[in-house]
Amino acid sequence: MGTRSAEWYGGAGRNSYIHRAWMRRGLPAHAFDGRPHIAIANTASDLTPCNSHLDEVAEHVKRGVWEAGGVPLNLPVVSLGETQVRPTAMLWRNMAAMAAEELLRANPVDGVVLLGGCDKTIPALLMAAASVDLPAIVVPGGPMLTGHFRGVPLGCGTDVWKLSEEVRAGTLTEAEFMRSESSMIRSRGHCNTMGTASTMGLLAEVLGMTLPGVAGTPAADSRLLEAAHASGSLAVEMVAEDRRPSAVMTRGSFLNAVVALAALGGSTNAVVHLLAIAGRLGVELTQDDFDRTGSGVPLLVDLLPAGRFLMDDLHRAGGLHAVLREVRDLLDPEAITVTGRPLVDWLGAARIHDPEVIRPRETPLLESAGIAVLYGDLAPGGAVIKPAAASPHLLRHRGPAVVFDSVEDFHARIDDPDLDVTPDSVLVLRGCGPRGYPGMPEVANMPLPAKLLAQGVRDMVRVCDGRMSGTAYGTVVLHVAPEAAAGGPLGLVRDGDMIVLDVDARRLDVEVPAEEWAAREPSPAMTKAFAAPSRGWERLYVETVGQANTGADLGFLTGSSGHPVPRDSH
Ligand code: FES
Repeated sequence: MGTRSAEWYGGAGRNSYIHRAWMRRGLPAHAFDGRPHIAIANTASDLTPCNSHLDEVAEHVKRGVWEAGGVPLNLPVVSLGETQVRPTAMLWRNMAAMAAEELLRANPVDGVVLLGGCDKTIPALLMAAASVDLPAIVVPGGPMLTGHFRGVPLGCGTDVWKLSEEVRAGTLTEAEFMRSESSMIRSRGHCNTMGTASTMGLLAEVLGMTLPGVAGTPAADSRLLEAAHASGSLAVEMVAEDRRPSAVMTRGSFLNAVVALAALGGSTNAVVHLLAIAGRLGVELTQDDFDRTGSGVPLLVDLLPAGRFLMDDLHRAGGLHAVLREVRDLLDPEAITVTGRPLVDWLGAARIHDPEVIRPRETPLLESAGIAVLYGDLAPGGAVIKPAAASPHLLRHRGPAVVFDSVEDFHARIDDPDLDVTPDSVLVLRGCGPRGYPGMPEVANMPLPAKLLAQGVRDMVRVCDGRMSGTAYGTVVLHVAPEAAAGGPLGLVRDGDMIVLDVDARRLDVEVPAEEWAAREPSPAMTKAFAAPSRGWERLYVETVGQANTGADLGFLTGSSGHPVPRDSH
């Protein structure tokens, strides 16, 4: 079978002449003799600081591609800097995925190396690769090295909040706070806590989509460049063997990722991303799989935000493979990697070098980590809670609702001394789902009312149709589906309604007489706060985005469409 790129370059006609001639700017004639052309989907950008080193990584991928007899082609794709992009990078994840998919389909390429790092970039690239289903391999950009301030390690993101709280409490001067800024981001790479970027880089490997043993390698580590080289070579081999994402990312691979997500203590955002990637492939994966397969898995990794260490420590302690080896019996032995060999085949030599960072299976940090999926009056489509991050005494709770109609409403009233709120209240924030506040912002872990904080209250039950940062925790019910803006019952709750959370029973209900509930209408104040964009991507997004329980992808992008060669109009 000829290569896909040969459809462009083969033959002596005018069209193939044009395709070749313009590419001769740097490529020799033999580049068009039928050898694989490998795109390097590169999210390097000065506005995505976590990925700004990927141009250097791409150079090493190129060497590997040439060495294996392929032709490497740098393909800059949409990049999303989590800290820079407003209102939230998640609004643009699907756009990045769609753009990358279409660029891969439109261009004369046979395979692709995916370079990502910052939160949304690896999910978007995997969604694109799943849709176009060309042989693909991920090189995760890797986390930053650990920075220090006052002699102690700093966790990106997590410690920004801690230090700013210290300023508010008067235990840190503003000048010192400013001084910490240059210590926070010590090197190239993405956030070094177990946030979304770290989680998704590691899960890319568990899905089988990286060279085994690469994920979690710090961005500044020379071994990342060696891995980039080897990944370039492997991409050429994958084209020869026609090994595509649909063969690698099977249901078994996704269930392996669910197990790993729990053992790693990864971000809840991974639920939405994995559902979206599976949706692109047509692989059957539901939110319930996270509960069924993941909730009984032990937590083995002691990383910030919930724990003590950072990604550099995880790598030193044995890395992802040492973690996976502990839960090997829970992994699908058939699920293959980009190498063609099963993931479990690569775990034999792994060892835990620091049991403080990676706990052995016999002495886990928690017996049952993972995610619980709740259903009930308030969440007919399901909602998510991470019991390990919640306060045990709140896992069964009954309390009156204090309702906020939007993020703005929340900020305007939460610290009002007259707000009718007690430690037993349940804070409800709605209008923050994919449609209501496009992109589904990370606001579910609402800050507690100042007057309760002053009383020493440190956690309350919170319910929201939005997401929460991978670096946050608390008794937070999030991703409530359907969201209020999609007609979900969360939109009918009123102040004072009794809300009942029972995590053991997997329930989230409201105690309102059925007739009264049936007669309720959404409040105009709430519906007025929903987004109503008139044009552009945001409008397309709001009109077509699905709910969190299916990955919040655009409805018309689910299901793999493969890589037919487009018509030639030259
Ligand atoms: Fe890029 Fe945290 S800001 S990973």
